[in-house]
Amino acid sequence: MIMIRKATFEDAPALADLSGQLGYPTSPAALSARIAPILKSQGHAVFVACAENDAVVGWIHAFVALRVESDRFAEIGGLVVAAPYRRSGIGRRLCSAAQDWASQRNLGKLLVRTRIGRTAARPFYESVGFTESKQQHVLEKRL
Ligand SMILES: CC(C)(COP(=O)(O)OP(=O)(O)OC[C@H]1O[C@@H](n2cnc3c(N)ncnc32)[C@H](O)[C@@H]1OP(=O)(O)O)[C@@H](O)C(=O)NCCC(=O)NCCS
Repeated sequence: MIMIRKATFEDAPALADLSGQLGYPTSPAALSARIAPILKSQGHAVFVACAENDAVVGWIHAFVALRVESDRFAEIGGLVVAAPYRRSGIGRRLCSAAQDWASQRNLGKLLVRTRIGRTAARPFYESVGFTESKQQHVLEKRL
């Protein structure tokens, strides 16, 4: 049976392992350092999906996005389910946990940005109720 719960600092190594499957390979130490302020912040939430032995098999990060020009909204920063556990409803449950968290904060919208090459992501998000609102260019400048 799969359980959804809030992530704790002790989950950092498992989150790091799954981050690799999301395309962001990272060390447990680096992820620990990054997740500390996230877990402390009221404006962020990380939920994990655990299998029987409490092994973490998926995670989702949602946060409150603040903008000058529009009302605050919730955004999904990352979502991944371990490859052997996909297509069994875990992504849907993680998304639902993020959605409930956002609704409890009276956020009127949950947004996700997903890379075009992620083949599973678009049909997944559509199947859990998201619709495309726009396409964007993403640019960055190294500092
Ligand atoms: C996208 C992802 C999180 C989905 O997780 P999941 O646990 O497999 O999703 P679910 O089992 O809850 O799927 C719910 C529905 O979404 C749709 N769906 C999910 N994966 C799909 C795929 N590969 N192709 C087509 N539809 C898919 C289906 O309608 C599915 O329902 P069904 O299995 O009854 O047909 C997972 O594939 C993943 O981790 N992918 C790699 C990382 C990634 O792309 N993350 C999103 C980045 S923003």
